Amino acid sequence: MRNMSVDLCGVKLKNPLIAASGTFGFGREYDELYDISAWGAIAVKGLTDEPRAGNPPRRIAETSSGILNSVGLQNPGVDAFIRDELPRLASRGATVIANVAGSTAESCAEAARKLSDSPVAMIELNISCPNVKQGGAQFGACPEDAARVTAAVRSVCSRPLMVKLSPNVTDIASIAQAVQDAGADAVSLINTVTGMAIEARTRRPALANITGGLSGPAIKPIALRMVWQTAGGVRVPVVGMGGITTGTDAAEFMIAGATAVMVGTANITDVMAGPRILRELEDFLDENGIEDAGELTGSLILD
Ligand SMILES: Cc1cc2nc3c(=O)[nH]c(=O)nc-3n(C[C@H](O)[C@H](O)[C@H](O)COP(=O)(O)O)c2cc1C
Repeated sequence: MRNMSVDLCGVKLKNPLIAASGTFGFGREYDELYDISAWGAIAVKGLTDEPRAGNPPRRIAETSSGILNSVGLQNPGVDAFIRDELPRLASRGATVIANVAGSTAESCAEAARKLSDSPVAMIELNISCPNVKQGGAQFGACPEDAARVTAAVRSVCSRPLMVKLSPNVTDIASIAQAVQDAGADAVSLINTVTGMAIEARTRRPALANITGGLSGPAIKPIALRMVWQTAGGVRVPVVGMGGITTGTDAAEFMIAGATAVMVGTANITDVMAGPRILRELEDFLDENGIEDAGELTGSLILD
């Protein structure tokens, strides 16, 4: 019998597939369709200390092999999440990763502090959201800022801390090293790639925010390259994502160096993507005589 479980900085996941933040909400809709505890873990929608309304519409545009979004961290705030959403997720037996963001290092730390007292398994600090005016991408774009916000959260966070990196940088591995040195237990990458869409007929931007974050299969080669570069430059585990839509895609990210992978936009284009990709990854292992999913991690052959 093959072993699908992986250890992500001390958190045992029953399989390497994690629902990516912002593409699975708090799991409510999917909960009606399948057993959401089948995921290795669920990274919930980005949480801020105070509730946020997000950006004005239009916030989503379809592009070739991808989607462009500028949702902008719409969320009910950490307190409402802990009160109204977490008990249901916990009752389903889901392993929950709380994705945290904020305009300042202090507000990120406050959100993480509150979550550390709740039954979440892990905190994922998003220093890479390109759709908010303050914080967000700014933290993720420079190693010093990335280290500063990571250290602030680390000092109050008793859960394993994963930092989610932006691809909108020149050297992602140097940011990963900076957050590792500041106390991150893992890094996840990539968040969305900053992009833009224009409607030629009206000569207007497709999104009210003008720019947005590109996700889906369009970004997969960029994400694979960044996961490979980062995994080669850090000691902490890497969680890879960007355009995963099949079990083979997931295997590719693990071969590039990821301990676990996240599935994002695929949840939007196919509501049953989670169970399907898990089945496909299991089939991939069986067809290739691999008994332990963890064997894939970092197994890229360079002749
Ligand atoms: C509509 C939407 C909302 C997102 N919201 C968040 C978020 O709140 N926090 C976060 O860290 N990433 C967020 N992301 C980024 C995804 O978690 C993921 O990093 C990215 O979409 C790349 O993976 P994919 O190509 O599989 O979607 C969002 C992505 C989409 C499409």
